[in-house]
Amino acid sequence: MINTTPRRILVTSALPYANGPIHLGHILEAVQTDIWVRFQKLKGEDCVYVCADDTHGTAIMLRAESEGITAEALIARVNEEHQRDYAGFNIGFDHFHSTHSVENKVLSQEIYKVLRANGHIATRTITQLFDPEKNLFLADRFIKGTCPKCKAPDQYGDNCEVCNATYNPTELLNSRSTLSGAAPIEKESEHFFFTLPVFTEFLKQWTRSGTLQEQVANKLNEWLEGGLQEWDISRDAPYFGFEIPDAPGKYFYVWLDAPIGYMASFQVLCEKTGRSFDEYWRPGHDTELYHFIGKDIVNFHTLFWPAMLSSAGYRTPTGVNVHGFMTINGQKMSKSRGTFINASDYLAHLDPEYLRYYLAAKLSSAVDDLDLNLEDFVARVNSDVVGKVVNIASRCAGFINKGFDGMLSSQCSEPALVAEFQAAKDEIAAHYEARDYSKALRAIMALADKANQYIADKAPWTLAKTDKSSAEVQAICSTGLNLFRLVISYLKPVLPTMAKNVEQFLAIEPLQWNSVDTLLLAHRINAFSPLLTRVDPDKVAAMMTQVESSRSPVGASPARDALPNTPLSTEPIVAQIEYPDFAKVDLRIARIVNATHVEGSDKLLQLTLDLGLDATGKPDIRNVFSGIKSAYDPATLVGRLTVMVANLAPRKMKFGMSEGMVLAAGPGGKDIWLLEPDSGAQPGMRVV
Ligand code: MSP
Ligand code: ZN
Repeated sequence: MINTTPRRILVTSALPYANGPIHLGHILEAVQTDIWVRFQKLKGEDCVYVCADDTHGTAIMLRAESEGITAEALIARVNEEHQRDYAGFNIGFDHFHSTHSVENKVLSQEIYKVLRANGHIATRTITQLFDPEKNLFLADRFIKGTCPKCKAPDQYGDNCEVCNATYNPTELLNSRSTLSGAAPIEKESEHFFFTLPVFTEFLKQWTRSGTLQEQVANKLNEWLEGGLQEWDISRDAPYFGFEIPDAPGKYFYVWLDAPIGYMASFQVLCEKTGRSFDEYWRPGHDTELYHFIGKDIVNFHTLFWPAMLSSAGYRTPTGVNVHGFMTINGQKMSKSRGTFINASDYLAHLDPEYLRYYLAAKLSSAVDDLDLNLEDFVARVNSDVVGKVVNIASRCAGFINKGFDGMLSSQCSEPALVAEFQAAKDEIAAHYEARDYSKALRAIMALADKANQYIADKAPWTLAKTDKSSAEVQAICSTGLNLFRLVISYLKPVLPTMAKNVEQFLAIEPLQWNSVDTLLLAHRINAFSPLLTRVDPDKVAAMMTQVESSRSPVGASPARDALPNTPLSTEPIVAQIEYPDFAKVDLRIARIVNATHVEGSDKLLQLTLDLGLDATGKPDIRNVFSGIKSAYDPATLVGRLTVMVANLAPRKMKFGMSEGMVLAAGPGGKDIWLLEPDSGAQPGMRVV
């Protein structure tokens, strides 16, 4: 079939926040998108891929302030770091921009003005919590306090991570600004709203138009049936963002201009390449638009965004492709658990192609979470990529190089087998197109198995023993290398660097998707050099040691970015452990012999704990930092008993070494229970 008019496709990945580094969750998304884009390009489609940094909001403003630099300087530095990390994983953006750009400002203001002219912007005065020391309105995540439902201490202003209740920040008990520690006050201000409910019927249709995965459409249906609310799109100064036209001191909420950042980035690409912006963004053209996003930001992309686009006279996306979250060894990525792997941590130790392969082998078109199990990662990559794929070439190349001066035979010896490899093209293409990469790779690995089987059956090494220049050896190894070339063509969207190495080794032009229709005959190849080495488990361990060393202490705020705010997720928050894991925990009674405040920490107390006598008969005294300040005046703790984890490896924290962990229970706030001294327990007793 001749591909006469290529499809014109614009693809995006979600814009990473500029207030943190690129981590493996971002890489999952970028790799999923990049494989799809590379596949389209290899097929000859006119497909472009844009992204940008999402730079606005209070968090960035505050971080710049704490670093003593301007927000502009901060986002410029982060933009460089982000681009370097993505490039490290071979993410082939056609353009990577910033939401803090002229293009984005102009587009955001223009779109806002059209929404306003259409009567889709409402204003009203609302009451919000305000930090009287920092002089700013507090977003929910800058407020912490005790959950009004279950009384758990230290919960964010929007929802409780213990009982999952959602509430208004004004309902929190004992609330505090996390910025200053001050008690917030209630203050009024005028806000601007996008009238989302007006779009309910439009959205009901749009979400059922084949644009979304079934699972996502179903979830949206629930939201739509539950009734939509107007969307607050303004924030008061001080705010790092774009000022709202005709409203001094009011700024666009970061999520208003963030998706417009897709358009802005593409506009710059248009200027570079001569594409027509309107043909991709105005209705009535045959161009396609796809957004790849994670499950935590579905509402922004499938409710607010299409509604805004349609009001402003722009087209809506052809598809919004939602993926699940990455977990590490079954655990949520979190800084305090030591499972938060930055892209740069990975790249300092391991080849990006390993992770690209592993992710592809596990990715499907569903919204499921994806676990990076590090043992499985090593085993899978070594067995598939090195053991199966590279092995085909390494078993054949030497004979061709040595016996035939690098010359391949003029015919393949097993036409049926070769034809079978070529015929797999459409099935594999369909899997890539549908984002069912795991199915694509399963089909490709089944071919690799067949190629290996063929070589093993023919055993060219036995024939070469008697005559290393026999035509049969040449034909077998040439066939093997042709099968290898076909396998690599299919793998190229996933393993671009390895494919490039193979092109060099085979002395061929860059492979395209249709390259599989032809064979490589009577052609001279170059000497074989290892295409990809095995994953070294020691390097994986070294990476995890590095990750561990930058782990944040217990009691520190979790990395909000990494916490899935998962409307589509049903997994329990706490992972299950098996009995042998539990049995490793040495729980003991300890007496608190001293307790003091920790300077510079609003959560921790420093405890001196007496564990009785250790195995050698010496007093076992431990220093432990514990996040129970909200509940206790240290003076009242001295003399009380508590249960501690006595065999927790000592950990260096910002304030010193912590040699164990204290267990406390209760609803929190003022009510965290420790054992009373008269409970009959004695220091050192084992808790069973
Ligand atoms: N800035 C917004 C997106 C604006 S798009 C107009 C944002 N940024 S983010 O940095 O928090 O996330 C960027 C993307 O990475 C999102 O699609 C998010 O779902 C994805 N991921 C963040 N953590 C993730 C995992 N642990 N696993 C997989 N994807 C994750 O949201
Ligand atoms: Zn609660």
